Amino acid sequence: MPGDDDATTRHFGFFVAGSLVGVASLFVEPLAERSDLGHRLRAMAVLESSQRQGVGTALIKAVIGAASVAGSSYLWCTVRPTAVDFYTRFGFKETQVQIAMAHGSFSTMVVTIPSFPKTLL
Ligand SMILES: CC(C)(COP(=O)(O)OP(=O)(O)OC[C@H]1O[C@@H](n2cnc3c(N)ncnc32)[C@H](O)[C@@H]1OP(=O)(O)O)[C@@H](O)C(=O)NCCC(=O)NCCS
Repeated sequence: MPGDDDATTRHFGFFVAGSLVGVASLFVEPLAERSDLGHRLRAMAVLESSQRQGVGTALIKAVIGAASVAGSSYLWCTVRPTAVDFYTRFGFKETQVQIAMAHGSFSTMVVTIPSFPKTLL
């Protein structure tokens, strides 16, 4: 993706016995309508055979922790309808912005970093 190799971009992987089973990437990319520092979460995915075992939770915690350390106020992402409930668990809220993509309409979801339950970090 554009920005993959930027110095501020972070790529996270979850490995089981040396095999990569989950990924997430973190980019410095504020929302157009905001002037404070924000990060964007992209390409979050867990292999189907490793889903529902806590891998996604571990990745979200790592990503939000890194965004927090970088001084970010918020984290946002575009989310397919089937994953909205997953992100809601971590404090993400849907905005009015819907993005039409080839494989359907995605929601834009945002979580304010200080409101993230620190016990989950
Ligand atoms: C969405 C996704 C990243 C979640 O990863 P995961 O490793 O399965 O998540 P976890 O195991 O950490 O799940 C944490 C909790 O969320 C729940 N959960 C997981 N996926 C969910 C979903 N799609 N909708 C609602 N709840 C979900 C789990 O049941 C679990 O609940 P529990 O603690 O009560 O058991 C993963 O299912 C995935 O890669 N899906 C396909 C790609 C995708 O949708 N990516 C998101 C980008 S839009």
